[in-house]
Amino acid sequence: MYVLGIETSCDETAASVVKDGRRICSNIVSSSLDFHKKYGGVVPEIASRMQLEVITEVVDSALGASGIKIKDIGLISVTNSPGLLGSLLVGISFAKALAFSLGVPLLGVNHLYSHIYASFLNKKTPSFPFVALIVSGGHTSLFFVEDFDKIKLVGSTLDDACGEAFDKVAKVLGLSYPGGPVIEELAKKGSPRTIKFSCSNTNNPLDFSFSGIKTAVLYYVNRQTTGRPENAAFRRRPAKCSSRQIKDICASFQQAAIDTLINKSLSCAKSKRVKAIVVGGGVAANSSLKEEFIRRSQENGLKCYFPPKELCMDNAAMVAGLGYQLFKKGYRSDISLNADLN
Ligand code: KG4
Ligand code: ZN
Repeated sequence: MYVLGIETSCDETAASVVKDGRRICSNIVSSSLDFHKKYGGVVPEIASRMQLEVITEVVDSALGASGIKIKDIGLISVTNSPGLLGSLLVGISFAKALAFSLGVPLLGVNHLYSHIYASFLNKKTPSFPFVALIVSGGHTSLFFVEDFDKIKLVGSTLDDACGEAFDKVAKVLGLSYPGGPVIEELAKKGSPRTIKFSCSNTNNPLDFSFSGIKTAVLYYVNRQTTGRPENAAFRRRPAKCSSRQIKDICASFQQAAIDTLINKSLSCAKSKRVKAIVVGGGVAANSSLKEEFIRRSQENGLKCYFPPKELCMDNAAMVAGLGYQLFKKGYRSDISLNADLN
């Protein structure tokens, strides 16, 4: 069965055709990132307006590149939760109209669960049950996964998401948005143990907190610049740190974030007695995170699965794939499908 996936939960407009939940026939992603750069983060109104402008072309391209005819589509799967309200509504409205006009079934899927599904689009796929860490610009969550429709949240961030912390640290250092890829590159040239950054503890050991470490970086930079840590404004300004210091800050911050993500995932896997960990979301594109995750999982007798890099970021192939699996289990949405922000 060919499934058309549509994803518009944040700044991307994506469409993809996937056969039987496994074979990606096309995968088109259009991003409005360049329009958000000067604001240092995604501006919801800009995102949804751009999505409205490009969605028809993106879906057309995905259908064209797939080599199949529109009448061969057996299901339309669309992200309906969680995400930016205006952005979600663009994808949902488009999907509903197309499904209605073609007379094909429609299914709304959860964005975070679809990030978990991205690892099922790889050559080697995980077996249930497993623990999943979804780490992106909007979320940092640990799930216990027993099936595609049996996913339980066991921990999440109490404040900033991990990707958001990368973005904010980059802003403090005067680097560009999004911060993750820039910090990853600079971290390669820095020393990860020069500065002692660490993430705050949480009452539930499986929850996360990234707001403290972000402030610690700001204070550290302020101290280098003015001799005083105060002035906690996260405004963009060139950090007066040397380029050596910036590389060390990036490496030390990144290492602290990686240590926390891995330690908590491993202890979650241990407490749930599973044999595998699945990682997904934008931050999973970080190659140091991937290397260390795989190494430490192996040391602990666990298998570790990452999606291919291009499927770590938001895309519609994961939406089509998850939609197929849930459709097979009997799940359907109807024309009343709406955005769900929870
Ligand atoms: O999953 P995603 O594309 O969108 C959301 O659903 O949020 O994730 C975007 C986030 C951004 O915060 C970005 O800085 C982060 O993923 N990111 C990275 C890397 N590439 C993207 N973080 C660390 N290292 C990277 N290489
Ligand atoms: Zn995402």
